[in-house]
Amino acid sequence: MKKQISWDKVKAGTQSVWGGETDVFPHRATQAPTVNSVAYGYDDLDEWIQVAKGEKEGYIYGRNTNPTLDVLEEKIRILEGAQAATSFSSGMAAISNTLFAHLKSGDRVVASKDTYGGTSKIFLEFLPQYGIEVKLCDTTDHHQIEKEVAKGCQLLYLETPTNPTLKIQDINKLSEAGKSVGALVAVDNTLATPINQQPLALGADLVIHSATKFLCGHSDALGGLVCGNPEQIKKIFHFREINGATLGANAAYLILRGMKTLALRMERHNSNALELARCLLEHPKIDTVFYPGLDTHPSFDTAAEQMKGFGGVLSFSLSGTEDLIPAFLTKLNFAHAAAHLGSVDTIVGPPKTTSHVENTVEERSYLGIPENLVRCSVGIENIDDIKRDFLQALDQL
Ligand SMILES: Cc1ncc(COP(=O)(O)O)c(C=O)c1O
Repeated sequence: MKKQISWDKVKAGTQSVWGGETDVFPHRATQAPTVNSVAYGYDDLDEWIQVAKGEKEGYIYGRNTNPTLDVLEEKIRILEGAQAATSFSSGMAAISNTLFAHLKSGDRVVASKDTYGGTSKIFLEFLPQYGIEVKLCDTTDHHQIEKEVAKGCQLLYLETPTNPTLKIQDINKLSEAGKSVGALVAVDNTLATPINQQPLALGADLVIHSATKFLCGHSDALGGLVCGNPEQIKKIFHFREINGATLGANAAYLILRGMKTLALRMERHNSNALELARCLLEHPKIDTVFYPGLDTHPSFDTAAEQMKGFGGVLSFSLSGTEDLIPAFLTKLNFAHAAAHLGSVDTIVGPPKTTSHVENTVEERSYLGIPENLVRCSVGIENIDDIKRDFLQALDQL
């Protein structure tokens, strides 16, 4: 029997473990089964037709729906406090499907300048090809964003904190601006996760995740998720089931398993990143540290108001030239030099070879990303070991 649970009365730590997993699975399995079957058989043609038409619950074909994906979508729906959710083969698939499902030729999008590199490619390269106008604004200039929104737009796209410079946007304030012109407000919540920030509760319409990052948490599966109201999600789901950016069941299972420890991991990511940021701030070989949990961050007050924790990602610029970066990276013992973030293990890399590798030097400069910047996704290791490791690497430069 389906259990009726008031999830809004359940804390995030319990939602992470039990969300989507309170009903009885086949064979009374205690864990969500990974259903790899592409097709589902029917003895009764009438029942098959009913399921195909959506008049009866059931599964037909794996590009459309899958029982393992259902569990994952329900877990993120509960964690984000949304009415509906759908899944994708990657974070970029989630972003592009959301944009292409909702926009048409002649529409106008207002977005911030420094979104994730792949997202900014969609804004700069692909949407204009389809006759969709994109106005990129200074990420933290809320006055400019409000002014551009007031000129009229169908979609306002936010990302906060941003990757890799950890800028903060006021979701509540900007959602109000979007709503006043009838625009959909979408927020990329990848860096914060629902443990630290819930954009829908702050007024946004859609929340997007690269589930590849903190949600999965173990660097072993790609995925994307979008939450919103049933009408919006149906539209996005329909676009996805036709273009085929469906998440695989094995990846969905890995993300589900990772999400069981999401609340626990985020507590540790939050405290580790804050401690490392404070430690790096003191070091003579570091110029600037970008982390929204530092009270020196220009948007610390907004971050403190809308976030429960400041997340596991920080970035910093090394004093001197960018030539020091390779030496620094190779001297670290407990950090992968890799193009990724959000894992249990610490990961470092310069944005020019990671998040913004697809951008030119001019584009990175336009996006406000210094060439000597190092992004660091702080893992869940013991922070004393990580601090000691970073300090010995810096001292050798
Ligand atoms: C903030 C943000 N959004 C979206 C993406 C894209 O996610 P994926 O690599 O899963 O496609 C990334 C990837 O790094 C990201 O950092």
